[in-house]
Amino acid sequence: MKHLYIETYGCQMNVSDTEVIFSILEKEGYVRTDSMDEADVILANTCSVRDNAEQRIWGRIQEFSKAKKRRSGTVIGIVGCMAERLKDSLLDTHKVDLVAGPDSYRHLPELLRAITPDSPQIDVRLSHEETYADINPVRTDKNGVSAFISIMRGCNNVCSYCVVPYTRGAERSRDAHSIVREACDVFSRGYREVTLLGQNVDSYLWRSPEGETVNFASLLGMVAQIDPQLRVRFATSHPKDISDEVIETMAAYENICKHIHLPVQSGSNRLLEKMRRKYTREWYLERVARIRSIIPDCGLTTDVISGFCSETDEDHRDTLSLMEEVGFDWAFMFQYSERPGTLAARKYPDDVPPEVKNRRLNEIIELQGRKGLESYRRDVGKRFTVLVEGPSKRDQGMLCGRASNNKMCVFPAGNLRVGDYADVEVESSTSATLICKLITK
Ligand code: SAH
Ligand code: SF4
Ligand code: F3S
Repeated sequence: MKHLYIETYGCQMNVSDTEVIFSILEKEGYVRTDSMDEADVILANTCSVRDNAEQRIWGRIQEFSKAKKRRSGTVIGIVGCMAERLKDSLLDTHKVDLVAGPDSYRHLPELLRAITPDSPQIDVRLSHEETYADINPVRTDKNGVSAFISIMRGCNNVCSYCVVPYTRGAERSRDAHSIVREACDVFSRGYREVTLLGQNVDSYLWRSPEGETVNFASLLGMVAQIDPQLRVRFATSHPKDISDEVIETMAAYENICKHIHLPVQSGSNRLLEKMRRKYTREWYLERVARIRSIIPDCGLTTDVISGFCSETDEDHRDTLSLMEEVGFDWAFMFQYSERPGTLAARKYPDDVPPEVKNRRLNEIIELQGRKGLESYRRDVGKRFTVLVEGPSKRDQGMLCGRASNNKMCVFPAGNLRVGDYADVEVESSTSATLICKLITK
């Protein structure tokens, strides 16, 4: 019996890929462990999106090497985006025995078998077809309620700052029926929520050999029809691609959650152009207006980058004013980090000084803190149905779960169990939690 330990970094796609890797290797007799010291194989499923994500992995490689010294024969592998980006240069460290990119997980069994102290193994080939459609992932979530399902892989956009198209390859959509089967399967095992994952879910398009085509709106409908008790979420939507059909499908099904993660990146048209996002500020605001006219209470979250190449104070003010105007519930906010090989790294100097990036990011965070608080406060007095996820981290004896709009609610346990739906009324809020009481409908 061999023990397998995996640490997962980066986005939800990586979480989902780790579940695919466990599934592939469990078939080979590997057993999951949460203890690095017990592991025969230590894998890090890595992220390259910003330099600090990679720096963290270098630190972990040092720790893995110490574990290997304590337990000889342990194999150390780097998989995922950083494996794809750095390829054989990762082997130069002499600390790593295996390097496998995101499209080579089916080959992990052979690769692991072939490793000897003198011959580390590498497979970083990207594929135009691989979607792991037939692999039934081993769920690693803690609550048994909420599952990720990858619906596509790769990305065909070339946002100039972004390394993902290089680490994940070309976009491909997974067989729609295999997605529905996977969702049915998790539902039958007690899960009550699935999150459909892709870098740009709105461009999902699957064609069967018989000529049937399924776009993202129809896929959403297919998954929503499995059972009204199964909630459907999805991420990430691209502002250039999110269609009225998708928004209308969300509105048509009660169990499709009313939340859209719509990364804006910048509020300045000049920078959006330079980032190659292929939309303008006006387009973005029009999409938000459309979403709100069709789904008035739709939760909206975003990603913002501060200090992209040549960003001026005026560009920065455009970002602040867009955030002020939209009033996102929540945002992921980052300083621009130049990624080698991207279009921006080749064409534009990373010329905003670190202290300016930092000051602007702090202004963005401060503004978002205020807008987030306003958004959460507006929900006080409202009633929501929440899916119980587990005990609240902060308040003993309380439970937590999200409302359809993705806001986290905390409420008394009553007779509720994890996986139940609860009706609540919001009594007060912080900037990231709604404090609720239970109600009977
Ligand atoms: N596919 C998604 C995002 C994937 S990466 C989309 O298009 O929205 C997640 C987020 O990381 C991005 O939205 C962006 O805000 C941020 N990001 C990507 N590259 C970055 C870089 N080089 N520096 C800083 N942030 C970056
Ligand atoms: Fe990166 Fe743009 Fe693709 Fe998102 S859409 S993964 S930001 S290239
Ligand atoms: Fe990171 Fe790769 Fe996801 S670079 S954000 S783990 S697609």
